[in-house]
Amino acid sequence: MATRSVTITDNVSGKSVECPVHVGEYGAPVIDIKNLYKELGMFTFDIGYASTASCRSAITYLDGEEGVLLHRGYPIEQLAEKSSFLEVSYLLVNGELPNAAQLDDWTHSIKMHSMTHEHLSRFYQGYRYDAHPMSVLAGVCAAVASYYHSTTDIYNPEHRLMTAKRIIAKMPNLVSKTYRYQSGLPFVYPDNSREYVENFMYMMFSWPTEPYVANPVALRAMNLLLILHADHEQNASTSTVRLAGSAESNPYACVSAGIATLWGKAHGGANEAVIEMLQEIGDVKNIRKFVDRAKDKNDNVRLMGFGHRVYKNYDPRAKIIRQACHDLLDSMNLDQPMFEIAMELERIALEDEYFISRKLYPNVDFYSGLIYQALNIPTSMFTPMFALARSAGWIAQWMEMLGDGDFRIGRPRQLYIGAKQRDYVAVAQRK
Ligand code: CMC
Repeated sequence: MATRSVTITDNVSGKSVECPVHVGEYGAPVIDIKNLYKELGMFTFDIGYASTASCRSAITYLDGEEGVLLHRGYPIEQLAEKSSFLEVSYLLVNGELPNAAQLDDWTHSIKMHSMTHEHLSRFYQGYRYDAHPMSVLAGVCAAVASYYHSTTDIYNPEHRLMTAKRIIAKMPNLVSKTYRYQSGLPFVYPDNSREYVENFMYMMFSWPTEPYVANPVALRAMNLLLILHADHEQNASTSTVRLAGSAESNPYACVSAGIATLWGKAHGGANEAVIEMLQEIGDVKNIRKFVDRAKDKNDNVRLMGFGHRVYKNYDPRAKIIRQACHDLLDSMNLDQPMFEIAMELERIALEDEYFISRKLYPNVDFYSGLIYQALNIPTSMFTPMFALARSAGWIAQWMEMLGDGDFRIGRPRQLYIGAKQRDYVAVAQRK
């Protein structure tokens, strides 16, 4: 059978280039334009990478039209129901679900790396008490690079795996210290007799004066949120981690770059922005007016937690979180007026022609903040929670990139629209 290809012809020069088409396991085929510049002297132009596949990957697949999300082939619904965050991390990093012995070994190694160097605790003191936690987290995560000079050879697969374990193991510690510094609470060392999620909640919420007893409902909800946020294909922060990594940068600094990107409210920062939006709406009776503003092109208001570059259907993660939010509020007997506003806002938007025609549905961030709120996590800590989960995906994607024989530095081109060449004029002669 003939190999599929696409021929691109320049109708001015008449020159053509035949570009092979690669077909993956799922998803749209991709046109390989590697020879385009060599043959036609042209680049492609695709702001926001709307039609560009930046890499080959075997980690996550999502079908935006059908609302499907698979990690290493496993549907997110099954992982959310049956797995744990630590097991999903293993799956992302290693490619297969672990057997019992492998899971024990993985859990043990993660525990062995849960501490941070004592020095690192002092980094927090350099931040103002009211610094945004994402700013602190990006800083301290990059600072972790300072401690592992002899075990961060990015071309050594064992070092790469060790780095993945360290990132996954230390992130709860880094995030909890961020919260405790902001709240004026003493830092808490990890207690490795507790499992991963419980240990994180313990470091976040225990008091030095009281025994800490974890709430199983809260642990389940947190485990679910971590699984749902663990990876999401080539999103902005993951692409940032890959791009930084492609320059052979230090992996902890690459993850820090991912944290910086995730902070933006078009990305992970949306979970914080959703709560601010619901607070601004304040009452069910104000929803229609707010939705009208989100539709008005002269108003820069958007419905936060709505829309997605890839999903043109209900985000499967949002479906799971919506139900979990219901269950959590019921089981904790919490009356949350904001949940009511969120549900009514969703109903109104989903019946509105503006949102229907643009295929704008609630995304993962629409309901996640409501769960974090029910767990007493302050709004400014929502995006660090996302970062904690996504660090597993970031490091798995970084490892995959470095293990790929075709790996090259990422270096996009541009369409230059600036001034033509001109001569320097001395300041006294300038008008
Ligand atoms: N509210 C109102 N209008 C919207 C929204 C929204 N939330 N999202 C998109 N639109 C409109 C947009 O104005 C445009 O309209 P038109 O065609 O008339 O110009 C159309 O829908 C297409 O939007 P776009 O900006 O071209 O879409 P994009 O793929 O570049 O952006 C997005 C995707 C997620 C940045 C955007 O939908 C958005 O800003 N949503 C709100 C922020 C948010 O919830 N972000 C979390 C994303 S999911 C989790 C994560 O990735 O971290």
